[in-house]
Amino acid sequence: MNLISKSEIAKFYKGKMLSKLYWIYYLKYPNYWPEIYRIIKRQIHNSNHKNYQKNVSDTEVMRKSALSWCKENAISNIQAISLLFGSDSRILDPRAVYPEIFNAAEQRVNECPIKMGGQANLELIFTVCKLGGIKNALETGVAYGWSTLVILLALNNVEGSCLHSVDLPYMKRRSENYVGIVIPDGLLGKWTLHKGADKDIIPKIYKRYGPFSFIHYDSDKTYAGRLWAYKKLWPLLERGGFFVSDDISDNTAFFEFSQDIQKFPIVVFNNNKYQGIIIK
Ligand SMILES: C[S@@+](CC[C@H](N)C(=O)[O-])C[C@H]1O[C@@H](n2cnc3c(N)ncnc32)[C@H](O)[C@@H]1O
Repeated sequence: MNLISKSEIAKFYKGKMLSKLYWIYYLKYPNYWPEIYRIIKRQIHNSNHKNYQKNVSDTEVMRKSALSWCKENAISNIQAISLLFGSDSRILDPRAVYPEIFNAAEQRVNECPIKMGGQANLELIFTVCKLGGIKNALETGVAYGWSTLVILLALNNVEGSCLHSVDLPYMKRRSENYVGIVIPDGLLGKWTLHKGADKDIIPKIYKRYGPFSFIHYDSDKTYAGRLWAYKKLWPLLERGGFFVSDDISDNTAFFEFSQDIQKFPIVVFNNNKYQGIIIK
């Protein structure tokens, strides 16, 4: 029988402990301190095995119910665009319009040493921003910056337009130096990146900028995080504006939020995931 040595066990626990202390690196950035406090609180709460198990099973039940709601209601990008802008409208593919920008962007991602979250529904975002005549946009969740890139491309020739983005880096991976790397220098003029967690940044944006005609949500994917942010973002959207959220089948937050505000959302299925759109 192969017995595990005491030193191996100690190494295992040391590794586990250290992996929980990833936030120490960010103590030098004051704008991340409130999030670090929340991480520590969460770690203490989850260190109780029962709390952790309950969280996991609640999440699984919600995910199944959200997924079946999405499956029942989903339509394609093309159908969504014709619902929103009329049957003559066509979905626009930003890759086909700007192939060189996308090739350069892909090269930057391939050379990036840190792996980050995947792309949102770029065709949908680009088309809504273009056909919706968007001027003032807000998004949460940047990572490499694909959604940022297509919003900025759509706003490029629109006078007085701008995009505000909120992003908290992947703390465990130390991604902060690579956030938004796909965005070429020529598009940076209309872009403001607010570094920090939704919970700390959105209330400040609320006071200083807006209203927005387009809001894209793609950051904190937890049920509580989404519900909190959806409710804070909604008043920032102007009447007739577009509210788009990615990955809505993760849990029931988007479904519950749309019921709360008494709006029937458009559910889109694209690239094996679901997005929700609500018009205010
Ligand atoms: C899925 S990625 C965004 C992808 C991006 N929209 C795109 O299309 O390329 C999610 C991003 O949100 C950030 N994030 C996660 N939780 C956050 C929070 N509470 N506040 C702000 N950003 C958060 C992640 O670190 C990551 O950069």
